[in-house]
Amino acid sequence: MLVNRMLPTVSAENLTQFETLALSSSMNLADGHARQQLTAAQSKIVAELPDMWAEAAVRPVDEIEQEAAESFFGMLGQHSHPFAAGRTLSCYSSSLAMEILARSLVTTSDAVALIHPTFDNIPDILRGVGLRLVPVEEEQAHDEDLPAELLEQVGCVFITTPNNPTGRVMSEGRLRRLAEQCAEYGVVLALDTCFRGFDPDAQFDHYAVLDASGCRWVVIEDTGKLWPTLELKIGWLVRSANVDLPVEKVHSDILLGTSPLILLMVKRFADDGADGGLAELQRTIADHRALVRAELADVPDIGFVDDRARVSVERLHVGSRLGMDVWSAVRSQNLYVLPCQKFHWARPREGERMLRLALSRNSPTLLAGARVLRSALLGVPELRG
Ligand SMILES: Cc1ncc(COP(=O)(O)O)c(C=O)c1O
Repeated sequence: MLVNRMLPTVSAENLTQFETLALSSSMNLADGHARQQLTAAQSKIVAELPDMWAEAAVRPVDEIEQEAAESFFGMLGQHSHPFAAGRTLSCYSSSLAMEILARSLVTTSDAVALIHPTFDNIPDILRGVGLRLVPVEEEQAHDEDLPAELLEQVGCVFITTPNNPTGRVMSEGRLRRLAEQCAEYGVVLALDTCFRGFDPDAQFDHYAVLDASGCRWVVIEDTGKLWPTLELKIGWLVRSANVDLPVEKVHSDILLGTSPLILLMVKRFADDGADGGLAELQRTIADHRALVRAELADVPDIGFVDDRARVSVERLHVGSRLGMDVWSAVRSQNLYVLPCQKFHWARPREGERMLRLALSRNSPTLLAGARVLRSALLGVPELRG
């Protein structure tokens, strides 16, 4: 086996700690943040940052914030999103929006039904405020009504759509039905739509569907997965008029507001996105997915799990190998990917034969990474129980 025994032992308690190990590597295919090259149009926007700084310093922040939200939500087809009366709050990141939601939820309930698998900082943040989690299998959330016994014991149903790592998108019809069920049981429906920019199927007007159902709802949106803006990003926390949670108060417990410079930058990137930039990004991710699949095509005993995924991450089943063995082998070559156990926050073993690769990278980095992965997979054949 190709494990380099000279490397220090790794102790990573969550996916972000695995991602942190990769941050300084030239072959970082671990985190789902955007690290591809700026497009020509985006470079032009970056070159205008000094002018935006001057503009941000003098204009009213609420005006800039509203323009940024209108451009961003509009680019994503979310035309019914509310802005007035503090209904769309900007945060430094979507994780902060999540923390605010969790702190708000725990004032009125003690349990959340959470999609399984999903990115582990969602369960970690919810558990961090003392909420009990009940797993809802992804297939179940997408295919059938949720059982009454479940809805009676939770204060919130939380769905990530498109999901990370699977890329699965909740259809309009399914969202409508789930929202109706949540309305019926008085349960908050919370959505994390951070990856929706990659998949046109996730760009129907969710806010129209949620509002029509009459349910109490919260949506977390994110600019951070789309554009390579060096962690300059906005997480949005959006809520229904009837949500009856202290979201605004908790937001104000933590922050006054986000940077008007970042908001102006988001507006410009979103306008470019609406003007063809988003379609170009979707094409780039599709090309990168094809590149990785082609490079690994003839490796025996592996599989790409999510046939229809369009998000900027790709799951690879490593067959009879253990994901951590392959992870260690590629790490010795300076390539970092993500082992998948921790996405399966209720039953980690279900993810132990899968790895997640980030596709929002430059093509040469991705190709170099896929080649290292290929030789490691060919060199880690032994069966493990
Ligand atoms: C679905 C999902 N939501 C939220 C986040 C948190 O994003 P951030 O680290 O920018 O706060 C992530 C991180 O990858 C994610 O995958």
